[in-house]
Parts: sequence; structure tokens; C-alpha cells
Amino acid sequence: MLVDQLIMDYSQETTGSEKASHIPVMLSEVIEYLKPESGNIIVDGTLGLGGHAEAFLKHIGSKGRLIGIDRDAQALALARENLGTYRDQCHFVHENYSNIDKVLAGLSIKEVDCILLDLGLSSFQLNDAQRGFSFRADGPLDMRMDRDSYISAFDLVNSLSEKEISAILKDFGQERWHHRIARYVVQSRSEKPIETTKELSTIILRAMPRQSRREKIHPATRAFQAFRIAVNRELEGLEEALDKCLDVLKTGGRIGIIAFHSLEDRIVKQTFRNRAKSGELNLIVKKPLRPSDSEAKFNSRARSARLRIAERI
Ligand SMILES: C[S@@+](CC[C@H](N)C(=O)[O-])C[C@H]1O[C@@H](n2cnc3c(N)ncnc32)[C@H](O)[C@@H]1O
Repeated sequence: MLVDQLIMDYSQETTGSEKASHIPVMLSEVIEYLKPESGNIIVDGTLGLGGHAEAFLKHIGSKGRLIGIDRDAQALALARENLGTYRDQCHFVHENYSNIDKVLAGLSIKEVDCILLDLGLSSFQLNDAQRGFSFRADGPLDMRMDRDSYISAFDLVNSLSEKEISAILKDFGQERWHHRIARYVVQSRSEKPIETTKELSTIILRAMPRQSRREKIHPATRAFQAFRIAVNRELEGLEEALDKCLDVLKTGGRIGIIAFHSLEDRIVKQTFRNRAKSGELNLIVKKPLRPSDSEAKFNSRARSARLRIAERI
């Protein structure tokens, strides 16, 4: 199949102009296992559009408090709107969840009953062409969750060495064709900088051998995921952030982490296991929970979700 035809086929799958929305993943499992109760203090460290947070707020009643953290100011503004009815019980904080200790200290809160981290991107970020996360809708090569941060995908793609790009694609995207894609990227940018998501996805498609373009997922999926993880340094500091979360959890308090990437899930599994070994944590589920078949069918984004739950001893 010609690369141009392939690009056209994929770009017809979405217009990139959907209304800001996100379906919370594994919502019933999150509520069943985290057990939010009346009067609880809850931290949603990845607030997004507030889907999980709204369900928490319904359970904790008017005496409960919700601290919603997101590094994306736009998500936070939308969540503030969506959770307007509960405004008096919510604190909306523009921060990285890795600073949960500072956030809570700033609110004079020592410990909390529940913490949820629903890692990765929300559909609203992915669907907004201007955010540059998607190969399906053309936009600037950005990919920053926090638009106040300095380094964008444009910077990485246009300035890292071929070896560094190859390593990103291999380590964060498990992309088999990492060498070839890195070579094509470097070749292409020697003629002109790579400025848009469409330019990058075209280069990726051209770099890949014909047979690998027939996969079920778009051939640029893994490479885009890899650059996004690198831009937002998503894996760096996750372990330390989890440790901080566990330190502020009350005895009997529960934490839930939804991971969409095997590397993230491995870090969660390892951190939980270490704390369980030292007698500080009880693993509520030995293996991660997976979405039901009906959820996976209804919400394709949920398909790769893994939910791990633990309780502070
Ligand atoms: C999957 S979405 C969460 C969706 C949310 N649970 C809902 O129901 O609407 C992940 C959100 O976490 C945010 N995020 C990702 N990494 C973060 C981090 N390290 N610190 C704070 N927010 C983060 C993203 O900006 C995004 O809005």
C-alpha cells in the first residue's frame, strides 16, 4: 500500500475536532476496591476531566475533601467546570503528582484515605490536534502535558542524535524498527526541521518496511508513544512518586494505580512488592485487574489498562 494512501486512510478515522471528553477507565473497579467512604480525604493525582473524581465525590459526601492534581492546566480548568457542584469540597492543583508531599503540606493535610493515579493521557488531550499528541490529526509537534515545561517533541525530534532517538523508540515504544526510523528522522531533518505530527508520522511510515505497515494498530503508534513518554519524562521518578504516595496514606487507606504501559506497570508492581515485603503494604490484588470484555469493547482506550490496588498497614 502506498504511504500516502495509508496516511489518508488513518486520518479519516478522526477529525481531531471532538468535544473535550474522556471516559473514566475501570470506574466500577476503582470504586469497589478503593472503597471511598463518607468524610474521606481523597487524592486524585491525575485528575484529567474529573471522571473518577466525580464518582469519589458522590461517595465521600459533603464532609469529604478531594484534592485533584494535574500537570495540564487545561485539563484542570475543564475538571473545575465539570465538578462545579462540588466546588467547595475540591482543591484543584496544577502540579506533578510526584510533588504530592508538597501539595498536601501546602493544604496542611498530613494523611489521606485514598489515592488514585490513572496514568498517561486523557482522550481530550489526544484528540486535540493542537496538543500534538496524535498522528491522526495534523498539528504542531508538541506533546507536552504541561505547556509550561520547556521541552517539546519538536525539540527532541530535531535535536537529539540518531542514537538517542533510536534508544527512545526502543526503550519507551518497544519499536522493532527503531534504527531505521531514527535514521530517516535524522536524514529528513537535515533538509528541514520536522514541525508537525503529520510530517513525523509520514517519515515513520516511510521508514518502516512494507509488511510492518499492515498491523492492526497504526504503524506510528509505538513511536508517538515513545516520544510522548520521553517529552513528559513519564517513567522517571514514578517509583519515587509512588513512595511519596504510600508515605501519606493512612493506615487502612488504599491506593489504586491504572497503568497502560508495561514499563509503568512493572514499576508499580515492583514498588508495591518491596513495600509489601517490608510489612507496610497489603496487596489487595495479587495480579492486576483488567477491564471487563464489555468495557474493552465499548472503550478501546481501556483495553491495555491494568489496575493494581494496595492497602497501607
Ligand atoms: C488518563 S488521564 C486521567 C483521566 C481521569 N481519571 C478522568 O477520569 O477524567 C491522565 C491525566 O493525568 C495527567 N498527568 C499525567 N502525568 C501526570 C503527572 N506526573 N502529574 C500530574 N498529572 C499528570 C494528564 O495530564 C491527564 O490529564
